[in-house]
Amino acid sequence: MRPRRLLDISWGEFDAMSVEQKAPYLVQSDGTPYHTLFAQQFDLALLERLTHLATEIRGIAKTRAGMGFLRELVCHKRAMLYFSQPSSRTFLSFLSACQILGVQTGEVRDTSTSSEFKGESREDSVRTFSSYFDMIIMRTPEKGLAEHTAWAMSNSERPIPIINAGSGQDQHPTQALLDVYTLVRSFEHLGGLRNRTVVFVGDLARGRTVRSLSRLLTNYPNIRQIFVAPAPLQIGEDVLDNLRNKGVTHYCSDDFQAVIPEADAIYMTRVQDEWDKQKGDSARIDIARFHFGLEQLKLLRPHAILMHPLPRREEISTAVDHDPRAMYWRQMRNGMWIRTALIAMTFGCDKRIHEYHRQNL
Ligand code: ASP
Ligand code: CP
Repeated sequence: MRPRRLLDISWGEFDAMSVEQKAPYLVQSDGTPYHTLFAQQFDLALLERLTHLATEIRGIAKTRAGMGFLRELVCHKRAMLYFSQPSSRTFLSFLSACQILGVQTGEVRDTSTSSEFKGESREDSVRTFSSYFDMIIMRTPEKGLAEHTAWAMSNSERPIPIINAGSGQDQHPTQALLDVYTLVRSFEHLGGLRNRTVVFVGDLARGRTVRSLSRLLTNYPNIRQIFVAPAPLQIGEDVLDNLRNKGVTHYCSDDFQAVIPEADAIYMTRVQDEWDKQKGDSARIDIARFHFGLEQLKLLRPHAILMHPLPRREEISTAVDHDPRAMYWRQMRNGMWIRTALIAMTFGCDKRIHEYHRQNL
C-alpha cells in the first residue's frame, strides 16, 4: 500500500517541493492517505469520505456486536505512539482509536526513557520503532520531522505509514480533521458546512491548530474566515496568502466584541507561551479582551458554536461550559471517531466498515 513514487526521489528534492506538490506522494493508489502529514493533503471528496466513515464507526460502536466487529478489523497491526511533546487528548484519542480497531500499541512519551537519551538520533529511533510496529503516530516540537520521517520510512526496508499528531508550530492535521468533523456535524441540519463564518481567536501566530484548520476549511464552499488577535499574536502571512490565492473571504481584527455577532463558529485558542523567545514575553501582551465569558455569550447567535482545541486556560470561562453552544467537549470526543476512521482508512478497512454498516444498521 505504500506510495511508490516517494521511493524515487531524494530528500533534498522532496523537501524543496511545495506542500501541494508533495501531497500526491503521500497517498495510496485509491486516493486514501498513506502518510498523514499536512492539512493540504485533504480535498473535499476525501474529507467527505472520512467524516462519513467516522459517523458509520460511531454508529457501529454503539452495540457490543459492533464493537466486537471493529475490534477484529486491524488486530493484525501494531502502532507506535511516539509523543516527544506533552499531550492529553491527541495521545488518548489515538490510543482509544487503536483500541477500538484492535490495533496493539506501544509508546514513548518521554525521550529520557528511550535510547534518545543516550544520544540516538530521532531518525534512528524511528527506524527502530519501524522494526516492531506497522504505523507511527508522532508528535514532535520540530517542524518538518514527521515529514522527514515519512520520507525515510518510505525508503526503508520496512516501510510504514506516519501520522503527524502535531509538529512544532506548524501543523496539527488530525486536530483539523476533528474540528471539521465537529463543524460538519453541527451544521448538517442547517444546510451543511457552507456559507458560514468561522472566527479564530487568540494566539494565531503560534497555534498550529489554526494553521491546519484554516487550510482545511478552504475545501468547503464560501466559508469566511476572521482572525481576531492582539497584533503580536495575529495570524501569519503564509496562511493569509493561501486564503488570497484561493479567493477565500477573510479579514483580521482586534475587536472581538464587534466580531462575535457575525460568527457561526468561534474557535478559541490559548496563548502558546512555550514558544516565547524570552520567558515572560507573552505575559506582557494584554489578552483579556480576547476572552470568552457570559458577556460574550450574550452576543453569540443562537445557532453558533463555540470551539476550542483544548487545553484551555482563562480564555473560555467555565461559566459557559453548560451552554448548548459550547462544543469543545463534544469536539474532543469527535477526535476519537475521526482518528479511528483515519487509521481504518490507512489500513484499507473502510469497505468492510461500509459493508457492516449497510447490513446491520
Ligand atoms: N493541543 C493543541 C496543540 O497541541 C492546542 C494547544 O496545545 O493549545 O496544538
Ligand atoms: N488538542 C490537542 O492537541 O490536545 P493535546 O495537546 O492535549 O493532545
